[in-house]
Amino acid sequence: MHGDIENILMTEKEIAECVRTLGAKITEDYRGKELTAAVILRGSLVFAADLIRKIELPLTVDFIQASSYGSGTETSGTLNITHPLADDPAGRHLLLIEDIIDSGVTLLNLRERLKSSGALSVKTCTLLSKPARRRADIEADYTGKVIEDNFVVGYGLDYNQKYRNLPYIGILKREVYE
Ligand code: IMP
Ligand code: MG
Repeated sequence: MHGDIENILMTEKEIAECVRTLGAKITEDYRGKELTAAVILRGSLVFAADLIRKIELPLTVDFIQASSYGSGTETSGTLNITHPLADDPAGRHLLLIEDIIDSGVTLLNLRERLKSSGALSVKTCTLLSKPARRRADIEADYTGKVIEDNFVVGYGLDYNQKYRNLPYIGILKREVYE
């Protein structure tokens, strides 16, 4: 285990099982439809790469990036779309893929903006959710795991752009960011 990690929240095996379950549910719910996975950069990169391979549907992938976080561990509340979707969402079933819902500001804003884009449907999928910190009224349509209020890294999730490459999800030691 990396020295900056307090303890492991999800092992590689637990993550794989969780992703498999999400993929199976999504496959079932969208049966007969074509899906566009709208991957929210950068944190969802690893999750999305695994999840799309567990979805047995015709599928396209697009990327969107929004930022409200600075270098700290708190959201600023305002959201900028720093990288819009490359393809026109009109006429598509969009599934927004997020790594973690914290305040909910990011996902709520993106979902509402994309709902007025002419998409046939807009749903959301998150690997992790921290309901204790919610400020915006949103729950994802698909949630992998509900967690307590700890700052977590690994499997795509970062602190100051680091730790994304850890294969597990771990709680970051407070001394690293305090
Ligand atoms: P929200 O807008 O507050 O819901 O923030 C969502 C974004 O904050 C996520 O996409 C992550 O990039 C980041 N974030 C929130 N909590 C954590 C965490 O515990 N570890 C790493 N990133 C986090
Ligand atoms: Mg993120």
